[in-house]
Amino acid sequence: MIAEPTIAEPTISVIGLGYVGLPLAIALAKYFDTTGYDIDQGRVAQLRDHHDRTNEIDKTTLARTALKYIDRAEDLTGRDIYIVTVPTPVDEQSAPDLSALTSASELVGAALGTGAIVVYESTVYPGVTEDHCAPILEQASGLRCGVDFFLGYSPERINPGDREHTIDRITKIVAGQTPEIAKTLSAVYGRVTSGGIHLAPNIKTAEAAKAIENAQRDINIAFINEISMILGRLGLSALEVMEAAETKWNFLPFRPGLVGGHCIGVDPYYLAHAAESVGLHPEIVLAGRKINDAMGDHIAGRIWDLLEMPAPRILLLGLTFKENVPDLRNSRIVDIVTSLRDRGAEVSVHDPLADQDIARDMLGFDLTTELESGAPYDAVIGAVQHDFYRALEVSDISALVGGEGLVCDIKGMWRHLNLAEKLKTWQL
Ligand SMILES: NC(=O)c1ccc[n+]([C@@H]2O[C@H](COP(=O)([O-])OP(=O)(O)OC[C@H]3O[C@@H](n4cnc5c(N)ncnc54)[C@H](O)[C@@H]3O)[C@@H](O)[C@H]2O)c1
Repeated sequence: MIAEPTIAEPTISVIGLGYVGLPLAIALAKYFDTTGYDIDQGRVAQLRDHHDRTNEIDKTTLARTALKYIDRAEDLTGRDIYIVTVPTPVDEQSAPDLSALTSASELVGAALGTGAIVVYESTVYPGVTEDHCAPILEQASGLRCGVDFFLGYSPERINPGDREHTIDRITKIVAGQTPEIAKTLSAVYGRVTSGGIHLAPNIKTAEAAKAIENAQRDINIAFINEISMILGRLGLSALEVMEAAETKWNFLPFRPGLVGGHCIGVDPYYLAHAAESVGLHPEIVLAGRKINDAMGDHIAGRIWDLLEMPAPRILLLGLTFKENVPDLRNSRIVDIVTSLRDRGAEVSVHDPLADQDIARDMLGFDLTTELESGAPYDAVIGAVQHDFYRALEVSDISALVGGEGLVCDIKGMWRHLNLAEKLKTWQL
């Protein structure tokens, strides 16, 4: 039997250079010999050219990093540690889609040498690393898991666009297949982050911790979304009610809104899948998903009722799933657009950060690139708090809708402008 590796200065490969993998690989490359591999050769070419289309890493950092990019699978051979950061979305039926994880495991398996450690950072449900990925690694490598090579899991917590909770500052959960592997991985991640390491007792615990973090957030937002629907019917502003309630020390300050993106709106389905696999139908977890997925239609319905006209012209500001990022994955703003168009509105969408081609695929029409003046719209909807929109002034907004139009401030980003004094307004 081969001794479990205690690798002092390991060589590392990160597989999947997206929102999670690129910042991680760059952070690791400060301390270790690190290569980064992506199946998307265009992505690798852009990174070699010092361009990160996710906007997470600036040009200067890309120019200075010691990270070596690779786009040939054969160049993965012989590393001490492989860290897998590929997407884990859901399919049409909201079931976990492990296809990227499967193909990345085949790739790593083919490159594995004895003594290597394979760490997964992709968000999964408990059991995926050991029960789904390990057999693929064994099959592709011809090696035995836990004997010839070892597993680890460390969930990623970064938040796109968040410059405070970065990979070098957050507490990292780490788990290893054996205590020795856990020790090695803690030492590696401990070099990268000043936020400390939480050593989980086993891999399934670390996998479950990530899944419940995001499910909890989804449910908390769903509760506030339902509250905002109730308060709206009662003729009250949800934000004003919450500001009052938040003066109590233990009231949780969540805000109503759309839940999109690659994590919060997806990971609860992974948790639900795990629950169903042991014969338990999760009520709250799936109720949160149902409420949050209905929010776009709810917002559209409220705006439609307020407009009281047959074919209003409406401008929606913001399409990305959250503020100040170009990420359009699973953006629920599309639900507002679809619902308003189905009701008969003529909807235009503007977003300075969104990629025009991806946006066209999602919407079926082009993004508006200019903010026209002369009050061409019956309503403007502030949907995403990009800094660009937060900086708009009363005159910019009234140039869009004039004195008669409706201003819908979904995120409450223009509350400081006291728009209600001059314009017709609505907010959640
Ligand atoms: N984005 C986030 O904020 C965030 C936060 C925490 C955890 N996560 C989790 O991290 C994982 C990665 O998410 P992301 O946002 O970085 O995804 P992403 O889509 O931004 O990046 C994934 C990268 O992996 C590449 N890839 C896909 N299949 C591959 C394969 N077989 N081999 C090599 N490369 C492959 C893609 O080309 C892409 O560049 C997911 O499980 C996600 O749930 C994401």
